[in-house]
Amino acid sequence: MNQNLKESIDLGNLPAHIAVIMDGNGRWAKQQGFADRIFGHRNALTAVRETIEGCGELGVGYLTLYAFSTENWNRPQSEVKALMSLLISTIHDELPTMMKNKVRLRSIGDISSLPANSQKVLQDAISQTANNTGLTLVLALSYSGKWDLVQATKQVALKVAAGELSSDAVNAEVIDQHLATAGMPDPDLMIRTGGDHRISNFMLWQLAYAELYIFEELFWPDFRKEHLHQAILDFQMRERRFGKTSEQVKREG
Ligand code: IPE
Ligand code: IPE
Ligand code: MG
Repeated sequence: MNQNLKESIDLGNLPAHIAVIMDGNGRWAKQQGFADRIFGHRNALTAVRETIEGCGELGVGYLTLYAFSTENWNRPQSEVKALMSLLISTIHDELPTMMKNKVRLRSIGDISSLPANSQKVLQDAISQTANNTGLTLVLALSYSGKWDLVQATKQVALKVAAGELSSDAVNAEVIDQHLATAGMPDPDLMIRTGGDHRISNFMLWQLAYAELYIFEELFWPDFRKEHLHQAILDFQMRERRFGKTSEQVKREG
């Protein structure tokens, strides 16, 4: 079954960038009979590994994982602390595998708000993997779409104030270049587990034309390669019109 799904994927029509809202860890823990939500976060590692491996095997260029949002700082301190230490241990433990699989790590978000030791482990892993030529894995940490637009707007405003940029020259491309995702293609496919149909302040600008795929019944710790394949196959059956008519799209092929 798994292999059939994978073999049905058209490698010439892969999403250039897949973004994932990894949701449902807390509900997964509860479903397993554990009162502590952290149990769900700890058991999400296999899902993360399978997603990275699955993207690498197919040749997807960019994978962004929404690991911690700006709003997640408002969770109970014990959960925030546990998530931060899980983050460090995961990056540390996965570094050899990332090197072996040629994964290049990047991050987007307000990294300066992370604890100093998390920042260091993250920066070290980013530096060590910087010359890898495989999948670019982007961790969204202390990230939100509104944060990104605010920081980009500030940079642009400073350039205008300094006379480096005319306000007339500000266009979508200029905004793109100042977002945390500068240089990356916009996500073509956004996957969300856990059944909620919302963006939760993820990449508000960059998701403008992303195809959304929601797993209604699946919590993130249960996500496996076959689910990734399923979402990509569904993506490949969609007609992306970008505002045009279906007839135009068919004519242009
Ligand atoms: C996603 O799972 C992980 C993070 C947001 C860090 P949740 O922790 O949001 O789990 P649910 O949605 O409450 O089940
Ligand atoms: C989105 O999940 C953020 C991450 C997966 C990091 P949330 O669980 O925080 O989203 P809401 O609160 O249900 O919108
Ligand atoms: Mg959630």
